[in-house]
Amino acid sequence: MSEPKKAILIGAGNRGRIYASHAEKNPGMLNIVGIAEPVKERREALARQHGIASENIFTSWEKLLALPRMADGAIIATQDTMHAEPAVKALVNGYHVLLEKPMALTPEECIRIADTAHRTGLTLNICHVLRYTNFFSKIKSILSEGVIGDIHTIYHAENVSYHHMAHSYVRGNWRRSHEASPMILAKCCHDLDLIAWFAESQPNYISSIGGLDHFTFKNAPEGAPGRCTDGCPADAKCPYYSVDTYLYGKHMKMAVARTDSTFFSLAAKLLLRFPGLIKRIPGLAKYSIWTLWPTTTITSDTSKKGIMNALREGPYGKCVYHCDNDQVDHQETIIKFNNGITAVLKMHGLAAQECRTLRMDGSRGTLRGKYGAGGHLEVQMHETGKKTVYPVQSDLLGHAEGDAGIMKNFITVLNGGRGLTTAQDSVMSHLMAFAAHEARTDQKVVMF
Ligand SMILES: NC(=O)c1ccc[n+]([C@@H]2O[C@H](COP(=O)([O-])OP(=O)(O)OC[C@H]3O[C@@H](n4cnc5c(N)ncnc54)[C@H](O)[C@@H]3O)[C@@H](O)[C@H]2O)c1
Repeated sequence: MSEPKKAILIGAGNRGRIYASHAEKNPGMLNIVGIAEPVKERREALARQHGIASENIFTSWEKLLALPRMADGAIIATQDTMHAEPAVKALVNGYHVLLEKPMALTPEECIRIADTAHRTGLTLNICHVLRYTNFFSKIKSILSEGVIGDIHTIYHAENVSYHHMAHSYVRGNWRRSHEASPMILAKCCHDLDLIAWFAESQPNYISSIGGLDHFTFKNAPEGAPGRCTDGCPADAKCPYYSVDTYLYGKHMKMAVARTDSTFFSLAAKLLLRFPGLIKRIPGLAKYSIWTLWPTTTITSDTSKKGIMNALREGPYGKCVYHCDNDQVDHQETIIKFNNGITAVLKMHGLAAQECRTLRMDGSRGTLRGKYGAGGHLEVQMHETGKKTVYPVQSDLLGHAEGDAGIMKNFITVLNGGRGLTTAQDSVMSHLMAFAAHEARTDQKVVMF
């Protein structure tokens, strides 16, 4: 058996830790041997878990990448604005790169990174994790086998749940389109990547409409203060009441309750029905506080006091109608591909449940699917009316199986194999997102 490959990790936040955990579970295949992360607790915890030598632990990517190459690959999971520079530097230093999406914030930067990969002969994989899920790869194989004939139309919806929208795009890191990246790039470059993958063609022209209409001041309940913790008269009825969301994990429990009837679903239903239940069971009271995502994003102190402090002082305690957000909360994009296929991408942030839904109509059949908890995938043939239902996995968190899939793919690349996607494919999905953004903001059709 070959020796495990080595990787460095740049950015040990939510995503970086997910990728690193794959190495931790598969030490015979991949070892994390260097880290750059400014937040002390994250840096130290990850270095400890992976046994990283003290001389390979850094507070910033510049210091790590100033050293000669120490591993086969670099995993770059910093925030959107900090992708291009470390990616180019890592490639120039001789690392194969796994880079979080979006690749970069301008078309020119995306092309620069892909060109650097091409010039250095190294692999650049962008974390379009959905391609690696069973659900979307099954769709790809159904299309490739010609089951539904020639496809002419694609309808794809990215239904962002109301609480995910509020957390990430109203209160959180992605609320300002210029400081992070526009919603269509931040949230939908995955969807555009899938659409182009299914269409197997390049876009000809793109148009897009949308806006920010719900999460604005005009929709604030009467008398609502700037922060939920300041005594809001609407707190009992507001789905965005931050104490319910972060301290008690109400909306995550509701999402878990909607999953297939597993032990966790049942437990979540009980907790929602009898919120005081757990507090009365000796030894379990501490679990009445939610200590998983999204609470882990807002504070590393997940005690009641720590969470309430974060809500009183940080952005996640703000009323969703009093934030400085400017991301759209709904947007429709229409794409005409060179091979004639037309596609509609619908994105909105008011879904009861986080999921992607899609439909494709071909000359011989129609494919319909839902990706998310309680998902399904079916094909109905025109001639016989026969339906085939394909078994699909329910994935509450969106793409856990895709996260593992992309890591397996990256390890294949580090071992000299071919990856599933190319840097050029990823550049295309990003160019489509920039075009859709331009089409919406300038109210025009963008030709490719
Ligand atoms: N592929 C996906 O499906 C998916 C899903 C969610 C987020 N993302 C993307 O992943 C990226 C990271 O998101 P996240 O939620 O993990 O964010 P995060 O803020 O939790 O993590 C980013 C980390 O980078 C660290 N960092 C900041 N400056 C640094 C520097 N100079 N050197 C090294 N590290 C530095 C931060 O301290 C932080 O720990 C974002 O670009 C986001 O858009 C991708």
